Amino acid sequence: MEFSASIIAAFDPAKKIVVLTGAGISAESGVPTFRGEDGLWRRYRAEELATLAAFEANPQLVWEWYDWRRGIIGKAEPNPGHKAIAEMEQIFPYFSLITQNVDGLHRRAGTTRLIEIHGNLWQGRCVREGRVHEDYRCPLPEIPPMCTCGALLRPHVVWFGESLDQGDLARAYGLIEECDLLLVVGTSAVVQPVASFPLMAKQAGAFVLEVNMEPTPLSSLADASFHGKAGEVLPALLQKIKGHR
Ligand code: OAD
Repeated sequence: MEFSASIIAAFDPAKKIVVLTGAGISAESGVPTFRGEDGLWRRYRAEELATLAAFEANPQLVWEWYDWRRGIIGKAEPNPGHKAIAEMEQIFPYFSLITQNVDGLHRRAGTTRLIEIHGNLWQGRCVREGRVHEDYRCPLPEIPPMCTCGALLRPHVVWFGESLDQGDLARAYGLIEECDLLLVVGTSAVVQPVASFPLMAKQAGAFVLEVNMEPTPLSSLADASFHGKAGEVLPALLQKIKGHR
């Protein structure tokens, strides 16, 4: 795999590096992406189930979908792409990860400086009190799960039509505006506000590098795009960077 001199130069240790990931980074761990053909559950698309309206209409159905996803993710392991990103954190003093994934695989790979901007699938939130409960049991013994106060729990994730956590979003904007390099991995780059991060970074002067299986709306904006599997491109890139240190 060929990496140009400008790409290697972008990984200077003095630079502020931000990695932004989407479902594609976890695809090689066996976690279905959202918009791929394997992203369907029964006859539903994610967009039909990941909404407050769907939850209010049928919490049982929505929790069954999350229980199914937890079942897949619980058996999945971080792949070489997750691990390469975790190793980058060890190499670069100014490094942060923003992930749209709720699967927790980046944490399990060892990344610590991260923002899970769409939440975490292993947590439920009381619809009455807002308290967050972590629960790794799979399958869940009770669907829908209830809070100790007797109210329903909802998945502690951001659904379509909902706002992101304002603190997380402010931190992410800060990182994007200040970074020198934005590495965007495995996202279709269509869901806002995250989809606008690459343009923001570019306008603020950052080098934008994309790794994706296929061209995306971001590819024409990026300074460089690699079309291949994250689990192959990222370890190769990491080796190259380490070879130049
Ligand atoms: P998508 O399913 O929309 O896009 C996954 C991307 O990963 C696609 O562009 C694929 O080409 C790419 N891809 C697949 N396998 C890959 C691999 N092995 N290596 C590299 N790239 C690969 O998922 P997201 O962009 O993450 O939001 O979706 C964004 C958000 O939409 C999700 O966080 C979720 C969803 O609705 C919420 O739940 C709020």
